[in-house]
Amino acid sequence: MVTDTIAPKKEQANMADYDSARADFSWYEVEKAFSWHETGNVNMAYEAIDRHAETWRRNKVALYYSDDKRDETYTFQDMKFLTNKFGNVLRSIGAKKGDRVFLFLPRSPELYVSLLGTLKIGAITGPLFEAFMEQAVRDRLENSEASVLITSPSLIDRVPYKELPNLENIILVGDGDAPEDKGDITFFRYEQEMEKASRNLEIEWVDREDGMILHYTSGSTGKPKGVLHVHNAMVQQYQTAKWVMDLKEDDVYWCTADPGWVTGTSYGIFGPWLNGVSNLVRGGRFSPEDWYGTIEKYQVSVWLSAPTAFRKLMGAGDEAVKKFDLSSLRHILSVGEPLNAEVIHWGMDTYNRRIHDHWWMTETGGVIIANYPAMPMKPGSMGRPFPGVRAAILDDEGNELGPGQMGKLCIKSGWPSMLRTVWNNEERFQKYFPFQGWFYSGDLASKDEDGYFWFEGRDDDVITTSGERVGPFEVESKLVEHPSVAEAAVIGKPDPVRGHIIKAFVALKDGYSKSDDLEQELSSFVKKGLAAHAAPREIEIRDYLPKTRSGKIMRRVLKAWELDEPAGDLSTMEK
Ligand code: WT7
Repeated sequence: MVTDTIAPKKEQANMADYDSARADFSWYEVEKAFSWHETGNVNMAYEAIDRHAETWRRNKVALYYSDDKRDETYTFQDMKFLTNKFGNVLRSIGAKKGDRVFLFLPRSPELYVSLLGTLKIGAITGPLFEAFMEQAVRDRLENSEASVLITSPSLIDRVPYKELPNLENIILVGDGDAPEDKGDITFFRYEQEMEKASRNLEIEWVDREDGMILHYTSGSTGKPKGVLHVHNAMVQQYQTAKWVMDLKEDDVYWCTADPGWVTGTSYGIFGPWLNGVSNLVRGGRFSPEDWYGTIEKYQVSVWLSAPTAFRKLMGAGDEAVKKFDLSSLRHILSVGEPLNAEVIHWGMDTYNRRIHDHWWMTETGGVIIANYPAMPMKPGSMGRPFPGVRAAILDDEGNELGPGQMGKLCIKSGWPSMLRTVWNNEERFQKYFPFQGWFYSGDLASKDEDGYFWFEGRDDDVITTSGERVGPFEVESKLVEHPSVAEAAVIGKPDPVRGHIIKAFVALKDGYSKSDDLEQELSSFVKKGLAAHAAPREIEIRDYLPKTRSGKIMRRVLKAWELDEPAGDLSTMEK
């Protein structure tokens, strides 16, 4: 095990000392930061926006937005009025507390406004990643029974709105025509409705346990699951953003994640704005030069991204770095998959800053384990548990394991931003708790003598590719929809830049034969049906796929063969 450590620059950190913070910690004390502690009036959007608009921060920049075409700033006051207007738009079309109002939009200020405006009327928001294709959009809108969708004319072709019985209204943002055949849907124009709407709104006060946001995430079997988070998640998102992202009043904070993923909401919206910090959002795709140019232009001081991005930047070499002034950077963070020690050492050489790895997942709603700015860092470790959170390594019976032993990474139930259910699937929700009082993450890890956690891998077949979580089942289901495919199995294959790539093994139906063209076609079939990040980068056509006697395809065997590793117990394999 690696023993070298990198010392902190403690004087810069919000949390003076990890061990004393942990000893003194109480979530109840954290709650005193919110106005509802006094008033009883709870609403995430109020705490993230309006509350600051009622203080000297009203003219402080809340949002810097830029892409190839736009370059805009919005103050907390601007955001308050815009989200009020959007709340009124939703009310005028009949949306109300508890309704699911989904978003399928490119990154844009309108996405942030509509997400928070939705929360202001007590409705549940569901942001969908803009790269989703029809099947992915359909699964999520069907399961959530969303009644309102905010999307754009450029994306509407991927929404099967005529086949979604619960969907009533669609609000289109931006230029382009509405579809001719509207089915039973009423279409509205964002710009027109916003123009008409009042900028004053009576916020819907909710219970802290009321539903706030649905994020769909993949498991190893079945369709994506709707993970429900409630307004109470703010307690954890606020305090983790303060101590893990180390946010301070004058920061310019840049989280590169899209709100279609949980990082893009918990730490791309809620965490920074609950702390009243200026938040930078960059739309579109960009090169290493654009990354560094963005940091220089906006004087970014806190930067949160994913290992795959840091590995790409590392690959681009130091030339790009030298062209820019990155001296504004104070704190750098990485999340989503293992951060190689090599990348951390490169970060020290290149940025003269530590890159702080931390661990959590869609289901946890907020950071659970982290390398704090105030803590010595062991490169390759995810860090230590957040004060007020208990994480442990358990064996298959639920007993806690000692230092250095690999086991199941579990969290004591009851942290503030814990998922509250799986939408329409309470049974699946219960499966997260195999041991009395413990949530099981599906990750394998170990803990060392100093209490640092080390990631080992997933316990199931879930794949993390370029920081995004992909369920093999979804990709396999898509593949077998293709006329040539009899059976398919999908695994994650280690890759130096993307962490893993998706590799598909396919058995063809009679009458079809192996060719490069067919492999290409299968990959783009998944890309067009699901999403680009879910498309297999490698496809291997085989005569048969290894199966259990009960007919289940053995992904672990294919993976072992692929990696030239022992395949383990093959006694259940059909010969
Ligand atoms: C899975 C969760 C963190 C929110 C965005 C991803 C993997 C996450 C790390 C890390 C190694 C990590 C785990 C986890 N993961 N962070 N620091 N080191 N692996 O959320 O899409 O729900 O994925 O991402 O396997 O279970 P998600």
